[in-house]
Amino acid sequence: MRAAQVGNISAPVFAASSPQQFFALLASRQPDPVTRKADPARVKAFNDAHPEVLLQGKYFASQPVPASFSSVNCWGVHGYGFVNARGATQFGKWIFEPVGGVYGLTDDEAKARGPSFLFDDLRRRVQDGKVAFNFNLELARPGGRVDNATIPLPEGRRKVTLGTLKVTSVSEDAGGPCLGITYDPTVMPRGVLPSSDPLLPARSAPYAISLGRRLTEGAKQQSGGCASAGRGADVAAAMAIAGNAIGCRWTQAGATRDGGGHHGSALVPSSSSERLRCARESWATCSPPWAW
Ligand code: HEM
Repeated sequence: MRAAQVGNISAPVFAASSPQQFFALLASRQPDPVTRKADPARVKAFNDAHPEVLLQGKYFASQPVPASFSSVNCWGVHGYGFVNARGATQFGKWIFEPVGGVYGLTDDEAKARGPSFLFDDLRRRVQDGKVAFNFNLELARPGGRVDNATIPLPEGRRKVTLGTLKVTSVSEDAGGPCLGITYDPTVMPRGVLPSSDPLLPARSAPYAISLGRRLTEGAKQQSGGCASAGRGADVAAAMAIAGNAIGCRWTQAGATRDGGGHHGSALVPSSSSERLRCARESWATCSPPWAW
């Protein structure tokens, strides 16, 4: 059975539209070797010249701390084409939307729950069989822009539910099915085509290198993903800045399946040595060719 592994983030946009811009964004934030801080003038100059790189942070800042990993939307961010039975391609951007709805906490509520509540909550809910997401595709209109991860589709686009993702077990970062996971976003099942978003091919090599390092060096519990914040952030801040990540696989053949996937935080709360890379999930329905 062929499967795809996809990484998603809890924001409708990424912080850069091209690999060049992503690299320049990171470079603009590099700490000065003496002060060990980023140069505010350089950061401002970059932000002023590329205001779209701030959209993701603004989105996170506008959101409450999620009440649960299972109560937050997760976006694929990139555009993909879905080919239907007649061979017609519909482009769009997908969102995993919690079946039970989106819920947030106030900062005080989040603090009261302790540093690991999201991880504990996920395990409990998965055990109770309560974690499920609708796999929804927002349909782009012909000519609509799907090649830029900093630009979401305009509000009000038709949304089609392609399947349901059920998280059925959780694994630790360091072993089991999690160790071999990668999120090359160009590896997709038959019937799903990449858009011309330049970030898509640019992600392949770094993820391959990262997978190779993980396999040879082991999982690094304290390393963040591409959207990482430094230590010292508490869960609330961490979630507000970078949100969580959920990954999944879906089958090419369309059979319901159970397999390794990914559901974790792109950030590591300082007070928790724990980081969940992986949750097992199964698809209730999700089978190309897609019917519109
Ligand atoms: C040129 C742009 C990008 C580069 C170079 C890049 C690079 C990376 C690398 C090296 C990792 C670590 C992979 C691993 O643990 O094996 C990673 C993780 C990840 N990236 Fe990216 N990335 C990019 C863009 C994106 C975008 C647009 C998304 C949005 C869906 C995304 C979502 C993720 C997720 C969800 C993870 C996993 C985090 C975790 O393990 O907790 N990345 N990225």
